[in-house]
Amino acid sequence: MTEQLKAYIAKNELTYCIETYGCQMNTHESEKIAGVLEALGYCPVAQKAEADFIIFNTCCVRQHAEARLYGNVGALKDHKDHVNGALIAVSGCVMQQKDAAKKLMKRFPFVDIAFGTNGIHRLESMLYDALIEKKRVICVDEDETIVEDVPIRREGARSAFVNIIYGCNNFCTYCIVPYVRGRERSRHPDDIIREIEELCKKGISEITLLGQNVNSYGNDLSADITFVNLLKRIDSQTDIKRLRFMTSHPKDMSDGLIECYGSLKSLCEHIHLPVQSGSNRVLQLMNRRYTREHYLSLIKHLKARVPDLAVTTDIIVGFPGETEQDFEDTISLVKEVGYDAAYTFAYSKRTGTKAADMENQNDKQTMSERLTRLNVLVKESMRDRNRAYLGHTVEVLADSPGKRGRSEISGRTRTAKTVSFEGTLEDVGQYVTVKIDKVMAHTLRGVRV
Ligand code: 5AD
Ligand code: SF4
Repeated sequence: MTEQLKAYIAKNELTYCIETYGCQMNTHESEKIAGVLEALGYCPVAQKAEADFIIFNTCCVRQHAEARLYGNVGALKDHKDHVNGALIAVSGCVMQQKDAAKKLMKRFPFVDIAFGTNGIHRLESMLYDALIEKKRVICVDEDETIVEDVPIRREGARSAFVNIIYGCNNFCTYCIVPYVRGRERSRHPDDIIREIEELCKKGISEITLLGQNVNSYGNDLSADITFVNLLKRIDSQTDIKRLRFMTSHPKDMSDGLIECYGSLKSLCEHIHLPVQSGSNRVLQLMNRRYTREHYLSLIKHLKARVPDLAVTTDIIVGFPGETEQDFEDTISLVKEVGYDAAYTFAYSKRTGTKAADMENQNDKQTMSERLTRLNVLVKESMRDRNRAYLGHTVEVLADSPGKRGRSEISGRTRTAKTVSFEGTLEDVGQYVTVKIDKVMAHTLRGVRV
């Protein structure tokens, strides 16, 4: 089967293009889809309009992304008139929702393949059915077994994502993720270490460990397998220079994890710690299982270990029942923490979650006003935090040409700040020392020293 498929792909010089929605987890899953396709002989193209195989890798966390997806799929109605024999697939979270794949296939007769988050390793057989047998295929398996050794085509030459845990057991009341991605499943630490060692050999020096809740890592394995032990093993047994993770849940942030900051050499001075709300009443309604006071004490302890730690977060405004006073509590928390960045969202009602059935849903206007007010504050906070870098020297891992043309290069500090500087394409992938001379809300600028 594989050989026949490969011969067909080679003979027709087939190309693919993936459009990815949503979080880092999805970005990484797109890297896996690309890995499977390239192992079969597909070549990437930048424009959907030219591709023989278009894949929409979807996100259902908020309604908006889902609506945009349907618009973009609909726009491809005539694609097959331009690219003879083209295939169209929709994958990811949206497809893993109950009956979503069936409905999609009915609504868009030109979609050939629908597969969920558990289906990537079956892509080869789906392609065989679609390309060779000319069938339409749905694969939204409930089977949540972890499959190792799926080929991955990573985007970065120096930085890489590594999954450590899949699924989520937390059931925050607004969130659809536990319904679509199932219960927590941790990868075996030996598999993770092996993957990281192989990445190091290929020149990767920065790793971001991925999971919906990385602090739960190992809870489904044996007692000595914990997130903290995993971090310690990666730090001591591999050559990784920069180690990051996302996302951790404040309720599971242990003293052991806090102690890793400032003591594990590779662990970067940055934490993404979603707070969601500054109001205890709303946190309880959200089933977050921590208080504002607990969250603030975590930040205090973390900053005691690493004074210049960068802290970023996620915040939802307009959760059902959120009052003006609750929102003010969020504002005051944001002021108190002094975030380096925050991803802010208007609450989006997701059918099937507890919050969707709650009373006192906020209206759109209230939500958008609160979001605007919050964003103004977040931007001020980002600028304030960035000002502290003026005149300082930082180590930047250069990752891409900057926005201003060929002579500008941009990269990241250990604290996840974007820094741009005058350089050449040869700098990309290198660690460059830069002295900061200008700061904006989103980026720092400087000169190489
Ligand atoms: N509405 C708005 N934001 C949401 N998030 C998750 N579910 C929803 C929802 N229903 C946000 C949370 C989470 C981030 C990934 O997306 O802030 O941390
Ligand atoms: Fe969703 Fe909460 Fe799980 Fe994060 S921890 S994926 S917000 S349920």
